[in-house]
Amino acid sequence: RPGARQWVPPAGGVEALRSAAPACRGCELHGPATQVVFSAGNPAARAVLVGEQPGDVEDRQGIPFVGPAGRLLQRALDEAGVDRADVYVTNAVKHFRFEQRGNRRIHQTPELAHMTACRPWLEAELAAVDPEVVVVLGATAAKTLLGPSFRVTRERGVLAERDTVAGRRPVLPTVHPSSVLRGPEEQREEAFAALAADLAVLAHHLR
Ligand code: URA
Ligand code: SF4
Repeated sequence: RPGARQWVPPAGGVEALRSAAPACRGCELHGPATQVVFSAGNPAARAVLVGEQPGDVEDRQGIPFVGPAGRLLQRALDEAGVDRADVYVTNAVKHFRFEQRGNRRIHQTPELAHMTACRPWLEAELAAVDPEVVVVLGATAAKTLLGPSFRVTRERGVLAERDTVAGRRPVLPTVHPSSVLRGPEEQREEAFAALAADLAVLAHHLR
């Protein structure tokens, strides 16, 4: 895996990154996937939300967070009072990793090697958007941005810091919205409320 670096344009902002991304061959995930799924939202946003990788629906539509996890995330942002104009959403890994079972495509968590290969895209997005705060949604984004030993379940909902070339910047870790959907039915309401409460910390920070 050569990694994405050689496909990432050195300048031009989010639109230049978006146009270049379909050519990426930085790892093998582009092969089975339908298309690259880059980002959505305001490229001048004050907050960047980082998920894991596109899901089945996102892979077909080419837009992040448009499937069930994305709808849940939008509900949680609404509940927390985060303005959609303040948000740019993207993923740690830009191609859907899955296992084919019959005609179903089963999500597979990306490996550390995929996160490392794809990280130049995320780094370039963060440099271009230059947000006031980054929200890390779940373990994959946390491993990519905060290191392999970071535990979102332990440190969620509390502003932390990450190292950037411009110095330390605020980062808010929380769980991935799909963890709310995967959890037991009887705990779903509580898990949703906890995600919305974490995102209220973002809303407060942006006020
Ligand atoms: N889950 C993610 O992490 N990202 C998406 O775009 C969709 C689901
Ligand atoms: Fe490139 Fe990332 Fe897709 Fe791998 S997952 S091919 S590094 S865009």
